[in-house]
Amino acid sequence: MMNIVILAAGQGKRMRSTLPKVLHPIGGKPMLRHVIELARQLRPTQLTIVLGHGKEQVSAAIAEPDIVWVEQKEQQGTGHALKMALPRLSSAEKTLVLYGDVPLLQAATLKRLLDIEPAKVAVLTSCVDDPTGYGRIVRGQNGNIEAIVEDKDCDATQRAIQEVNTGIMVFPTQRLAAWLNALKNDNVQREYYLTDLISSAVGAGVEVVGVALADPIEAAGVNDKEQLAILEREWQRRQAYQLLTAGVTLADPARIDIRGVVTCGQDVTIDVNCVFEGKVDLAAGVTVGPHCILKDVSVAERTTILPFSVLEGCKVENDCRIGPYARIRPATQVLPGAHIGNFVEVKNSDIGAGSKVNHLTYIGDTHIGEHVNIGAGCVTVNYNGVEKFRTTIEDDVFVGSGTMMIAPITLQQGATIGAGSVITQTAPARELTIARARQEVVPGWKRPKKTT
Ligand code: UD1
Ligand code: CA
Repeated sequence: MMNIVILAAGQGKRMRSTLPKVLHPIGGKPMLRHVIELARQLRPTQLTIVLGHGKEQVSAAIAEPDIVWVEQKEQQGTGHALKMALPRLSSAEKTLVLYGDVPLLQAATLKRLLDIEPAKVAVLTSCVDDPTGYGRIVRGQNGNIEAIVEDKDCDATQRAIQEVNTGIMVFPTQRLAAWLNALKNDNVQREYYLTDLISSAVGAGVEVVGVALADPIEAAGVNDKEQLAILEREWQRRQAYQLLTAGVTLADPARIDIRGVVTCGQDVTIDVNCVFEGKVDLAAGVTVGPHCILKDVSVAERTTILPFSVLEGCKVENDCRIGPYARIRPATQVLPGAHIGNFVEVKNSDIGAGSKVNHLTYIGDTHIGEHVNIGAGCVTVNYNGVEKFRTTIEDDVFVGSGTMMIAPITLQQGATIGAGSVITQTAPARELTIARARQEVVPGWKRPKKTT
């Protein structure tokens, strides 16, 4: 049992953005949400978040009812930030401090830190090649931590230390009040440093145990867009390797972007440069060609999505063929064995089993039955500038190329529509309907000639 405090009051000036730093996304999800999800895996008795810059925007974007939001009006340092949260903490339990701009930490790592006896202080450390900018870990004879010295306050010997403070720490809460009240800001940055609690602990005879990270990237923080981009790549690498481990074939694990959750059945193949957003389910045997974008989509067994297709908010059943260059918009269902071809846009429609819409067509607000064939360049004319109307195309209808279907309209079962028709009334079952001007020949007509 523990309190968790997430420090997130910093401005993030170097992001050069109006968006508060902790709302910048990694894998399509705000950094702070990553940290909250990590915290929740540890089942804290309470979760407190310290906000300053953009606090309304942050708490509105996160909007989780059980989070305790605490304001730090002026950013006077990490120690000062924790002090703002102190009145909300239950003193019977230890307190874990996390940072809102450190999004890639893993719960297993934090569990190692939380395993340290509750009367001690535990600090997550990291050994890095270039410790510039970080607080250095000063260890004593017995291996315990004696102090953390901020980069700007280091002497030459301290500056050479490569073990650094990640900022992630666990404290015995009942000692915090005394230590936080004793903090001073007599340092180069004129801030109240959380790291100065270490000397207080040592002074009070409390052991400070350092737990070193196996992979320094876990504790990497985001201060600017370059670091954001690096962590984004690392997050994507992890997603890609999870898919590979699950048996998915990726043409190149470095060229896939997952901004949500992708679940895959057996023998799924994904080609390069695909973007997956929201919740995407790909069933067994699905193939996704290069350069596809899928957002909140489920695709059933053996369906093939050909290159450059964009699918959003739709359900594609088994054994379908989509694309290349298809666009399927929300509230669309494509039933088994249907084909949606190149430059076809489908919105809020259901495409019946075995039906084909292969070329250059718009289908909106439409029901298409089974085994329908829609020729090239057809439009369901669903909008009069004010309202939308539905089109019903029953089973076994054949629509010739270049047909405009002016909704509301029904093409009855087995109807055939002559190419180039503008259909404004019901097309009766099993009949041929043609609605276009008859071809005429004007006898003796001469082309005009230039006179001057
Ligand atoms: C801090 C540590 C440093 C460590 C480094 C790891 C201190 C004094 N230093 O330095 O030892 O190596 O993190 O990245 O703790 N924050 C507030 N209120 C404030 C100041 C900061 O909420 O007044 C929050 C920030 O939003 C951020 C976190 O605390 O999430 C860290 O702040 P930052 O200013 O980045 O600390 P560093 O100087 O990097
Ligand atoms: Ca930092």
